[in-house]
Amino acid sequence: MKKRLLSVLLSTTMIAAVLAGCGSTASSSSQDTTTPAEETPADDGATDTTTGDDANAETDTNAGTDTAAADGTADAATGVEGLDIGVCIYNFADNFMTLYRTELERYLTAGGASVTITDGKNDQAEQTNQIQNFITEGVDVLIVNLVQSSAAEQITDQCAAANIPVVFINREPDDAEKERWTTEGIKATYVGADARQSGTFQGEILLATPNKGDINGDGKVSYVMVQGDPENVDAQYRTEFSIKALTDGGMTVEELDKQRGDWDQARGQEIVANALTNQGDAVEVVFCNNDAMALGALQAIETAGRVVGEDIYLLGVDALTEALQNVIDGKMTGTVFNDHFGQSHAAAQAAADFAAGKDLETLIGVDYIKVTQENAQEILDLVQ
Ligand code: BGC
Repeated sequence: MKKRLLSVLLSTTMIAAVLAGCGSTASSSSQDTTTPAEETPADDGATDTTTGDDANAETDTNAGTDTAAADGTADAATGVEGLDIGVCIYNFADNFMTLYRTELERYLTAGGASVTITDGKNDQAEQTNQIQNFITEGVDVLIVNLVQSSAAEQITDQCAAANIPVVFINREPDDAEKERWTTEGIKATYVGADARQSGTFQGEILLATPNKGDINGDGKVSYVMVQGDPENVDAQYRTEFSIKALTDGGMTVEELDKQRGDWDQARGQEIVANALTNQGDAVEVVFCNNDAMALGALQAIETAGRVVGEDIYLLGVDALTEALQNVIDGKMTGTVFNDHFGQSHAAAQAAADFAAGKDLETLIGVDYIKVTQENAQEILDLVQ
């Protein structure tokens, strides 16, 4: 049932064309022990190693339609059997990246890869060391969620010098860097979603409300913006494009406050509590660049005695389980599904393709999905 839902929801989300030439049927082996959860990982160890185990083969009823080309519905990565893959995550404490890495590890391991995952602890110097260690060990491919996107050039050069392909995920290197990979023939790619789309979806969700966000009818949408880490393009684009969607939709906007919350729930709560104290009823909308911060914002909103859907709107991005439940319950106006299944599967496919000696585009895209009360239950069924 979940797989069928995945097929429907994800069939339009993958830009598989860039991974052309991979039409083989997915492996039916699966290791179903991993349930993505949004809890903060208890595990403080910086390294986590698992090895693929094909022993528990299960019948996969969708196997005939699963293609290896970045199929969001496949149970196991293909083309990774026997590969040694190093994965660097910017920070294990990040809720969304916990979902992402859990699925990435499960999927690669189910495909028979040997996977080692490191926690960069939000420190680029620490992550750079971890990458150097992987290079010394001679892994076949690296999958890297940079701490700082601006480190891409240095990391790419180190990997290229050691002849190790690198698949960047989640934090997008800039266009000049991606172009360099093409001109210099470097085996590097970025797999991710276009954050402009998630911002636009947030704005569109608001435009679909009865008063288009102008609750008090004064002719303008007065909002508070809670940003992620502003160095990250996801934060920059979500901030810009949520508001652009409103102005493109004919609304006048007023920014009451904009603060960096660094993707963090406690920061989201603090920022919104302050904004509500300082601006009171003038705040009609709270935009958060991610759901973790939106969950914090909701705590502040409830403490202030405000009611989402009645006297304030609240929007996030990611579709964390708790946020989806809030959308269902009317406590959040909407969120945007940041498809960690599609992204992790496409990253695994890119790793397999590089290891097989193929050349890849420098950008492999996965779509977001708009989430409102209408489809939140469907997405919740999918991610649980
Ligand atoms: C997610 C955030 C996450 C960030 C990490 C974004 O795409 O929406 O929740 O904190 O990635 O880089």
